[in-house]
Amino acid sequence: MATLDLAFPTLAGLEEVLAAELRELGVTDLQTGRRVVTGRGNRELVYRANLEVRTALRVLINIDAFRVDREQELYDRLRATNWRAYLRPEGTLYVDVVDPGRWFRNTHYIAQLAKDAIVDQMRDKYQTRPSVDKGNPDLRIHLRIHGEGEVDLSVDSSGAGLHCRGYRRRTGEAPINEVLAAGMLAIAGYTGEQPFVDPMCGSGTIVAEAVMRATNRPPGLLRSFGFERWPDFDPAEWGSLRQAAMDRIVPLRQPILGADIDGVAIAIARATLDRAGVLPLVELRTSAFADLTPLPASLETPGLLVTNPPYEFRMETGDIEAFYRGIGDTLKQHWTGYIAWLISANARAVKRVGLRTSQKVPLMNGPVETRFCKYELYRGSR
Ligand SMILES: C[S@@+](CC[C@H](N)C(=O)[O-])C[C@H]1O[C@@H](n2cnc3c(N)ncnc32)[C@H](O)[C@@H]1O
Repeated sequence: MATLDLAFPTLAGLEEVLAAELRELGVTDLQTGRRVVTGRGNRELVYRANLEVRTALRVLINIDAFRVDREQELYDRLRATNWRAYLRPEGTLYVDVVDPGRWFRNTHYIAQLAKDAIVDQMRDKYQTRPSVDKGNPDLRIHLRIHGEGEVDLSVDSSGAGLHCRGYRRRTGEAPINEVLAAGMLAIAGYTGEQPFVDPMCGSGTIVAEAVMRATNRPPGLLRSFGFERWPDFDPAEWGSLRQAAMDRIVPLRQPILGADIDGVAIAIARATLDRAGVLPLVELRTSAFADLTPLPASLETPGLLVTNPPYEFRMETGDIEAFYRGIGDTLKQHWTGYIAWLISANARAVKRVGLRTSQKVPLMNGPVETRFCKYELYRGSR
């Protein structure tokens, strides 16, 4: 099977955990860049990465890299590229252009030019032409232009971004990105061997990602992928890879608890976890954090608490700094024997937690800069 050049975009701060996941999967020649990991692997690895990797946003296959001086050269090169493995003549496509160099006119123009090259080629060869579909194309093409006209041409094997796990129907107020939640769990060292709690679970994203990780459930089981619509798709190979991944699911070894003060959020979390097929494995409680009884934990089996508290309150609902002071007090009073991780964009409020931070990891939650902070709550810790 041919070896392919692969690129895995991710969120800022998750490059190393993604590289570790890809190494374990068998992707070779790994290199981490800014918000991307690159490597090499065959088609089986492309299928498996889409299904099993938790911290990649997409799986791109680089099919060409070249340099052009003029826009016409870009058209010529794309028109001469063989698109038949990825696109049926009557199929649909969309071209994403990233970073057009300064001497190109604009992203929209380049995307149009690229689309024309592919459509013209197909029409010449097959007397029928693909059409453009932005929302749900059969083939999504990425053109990255950098430096002095350096072009990386890739096809997107994922289709919809991999954060779309297929378990979310309704969202709570500020759901965290699924890939970010999975990355936080990896950074926190969650393996499923610890009792796990998200006491402000909202729509249940962190809890859903925790159950899937603890049971080795592939994050992509509920959805379909771009490569399933390519002419070279091998359904038999895909079926056996999916089955093999399902055969690797293991039972839950330690309990998982999600709680939230808001009953509506808990109802949404219940629907999310049900859709993910893991609801019976999880306990959900409607409770304020201050009143929540922790799952039993001990020195031998410390518990893990990972949560995404509100970053701010609307004026009338109260003082966010006092709220974070309250989180710190609750952790000190009730959560001895736990390691707690909070993600927050509100650095001032986080200071009010009043516990020693033993690790602080900068992460992006969409466009929002956050810190993921670790607190070790041993007896007597301050
Ligand atoms: C930023 S949201 C969490 C979003 C969640 N990670 C998700 O993906 O949907 C913060 C959550 O904290 C909850 N919350 C606020 N104050 C709380 C308290 N005192 N005790 C428990 N939960 C609280 C809110 O109801 C809200 O659902």
